[in-house]
Amino acid sequence: MAARKKKPAARRATARSVYFFGAGKADGRAELRDSLGGKGANLAEMTNLGIPVPPGFTISTDVCGRYNAGGRRIPRDVWERVRAALARIEKTMGLRFGDPSEPLLVSVRSGARVSMPGMMDTVLNLGLNDRTVHGLARGAEDRFAWDSYRRFVQMYGDVVLGVPRERFEEHLDDLKRTRGVRNDTELSGADLRALVGTYLETVEALSGKPFPQDPMVQLRGAVAAVFDSWQNDRARRYRQMQGISSEWGTAVNVQAMVFGNMGDDCATGVAFTRNPATGSRMFYGEWLKNAQGEDVVAGIRTPQPINDDNRSPAQQGLPTLESEMPGPYKELVRIYKRLEKHYRDMQDIEFTIQRGKLWMLQTRDGKRTVRAAVKIAVDMARERLITSTRTPSATSSPRGCPRHPAPRPGSSS
Ligand SMILES: Nc1ncnc2c1ncn2[C@@H]1O[C@H](COP(=O)(O)OP(=O)(O)O)[C@@H](O)[C@H]1O
Ligand SMILES: [Mg+2]
Repeated sequence: MAARKKKPAARRATARSVYFFGAGKADGRAELRDSLGGKGANLAEMTNLGIPVPPGFTISTDVCGRYNAGGRRIPRDVWERVRAALARIEKTMGLRFGDPSEPLLVSVRSGARVSMPGMMDTVLNLGLNDRTVHGLARGAEDRFAWDSYRRFVQMYGDVVLGVPRERFEEHLDDLKRTRGVRNDTELSGADLRALVGTYLETVEALSGKPFPQDPMVQLRGAVAAVFDSWQNDRARRYRQMQGISSEWGTAVNVQAMVFGNMGDDCATGVAFTRNPATGSRMFYGEWLKNAQGEDVVAGIRTPQPINDDNRSPAQQGLPTLESEMPGPYKELVRIYKRLEKHYRDMQDIEFTIQRGKLWMLQTRDGKRTVRAAVKIAVDMARERLITSTRTPSATSSPRGCPRHPAPRPGSSS
């Protein structure tokens, strides 16, 4: 009897399923990459370094295995821990999930042990519904709240409910045509509000169910969808090609949203800490004012250079982050140098600036050309960042170096 009682408790003590990070302290760290996935492990590591990272938690890769083995069900004990970790995010942020007057929103991000570019999905702005959208609009532009809701319904519809992305984009294109505008940014709050209505109807028509309004139901759906994405055709084929074990599973990161699209004192961007094509020692990246994460790589607007050193011909005349937001830029430089020193390798980073405050959202060893790998290794040895001229990441990405001559920052998970 006693032995039977002890067993589950012992198992629970060894295998943690949910790792919190926030307010300068994280349960995880970089070495736990196998359990936390690359993204989660580095979010924990950055948090422990005192770098500003929005609080969140990582559901471990082992849970992905339990999910699949248990008939695609999120285990009950895991969900209890998710609720507890969510309460810690709420406390850290001073906001409540589902609060109609001032809601906490989260992102749900996949992250396997090794990078699987474009194989799995992310949902942003989760927690929005017909009520919380009004709370988000409070103290910000109306347009911002409806734009966020529109993005959320599209991402959730696509990733979780299987409504093809194009079904939403058609409506967006129609609306832009009717209004005679080229960019999404030229649509008004009222336009976007109407578009949300159309999107919600589209979801109901194509999925056969109304769009889930309960934030906890939304969260459960998104977590399950990330676990499911490990088994989708794209991911399976990619694993086969790269020799990645199907046993590994993906982790799920749930993280408080920060907003680069609240106004002109907000921005988002991606960068390499050195030039990934040549290896030269320059801070290399792109940013957009008043934009959300994916806009930089989505190609809807032309991204701007972060400083004058890496302006491309297509970017002539576009203002840099350094000139437009010197404070956050300086902090970003301080952080990227810290990260290089800590990881002893060139990093590929994602950041967002909300009302002048910088937040880091991802770091990982950056992909680079062979030529860049050699130069970076030699330089880093000279700078005493590494002790010999080993070439750390030229070999650490699956199957060696990227073939693309100039990798783009933030272009894959
Ligand atoms: N909590 C968040 N707040 C603001 N932006 C976020 C948040 N989570 C993710 N993002 C941004 O959304 C985009 C997609 O997220 P990510 O999970 O990194 O997917 P990918 O693997 O496609 O880069 C990135 O630009 C990322 O910085
Ligand atoms: Mg990313």
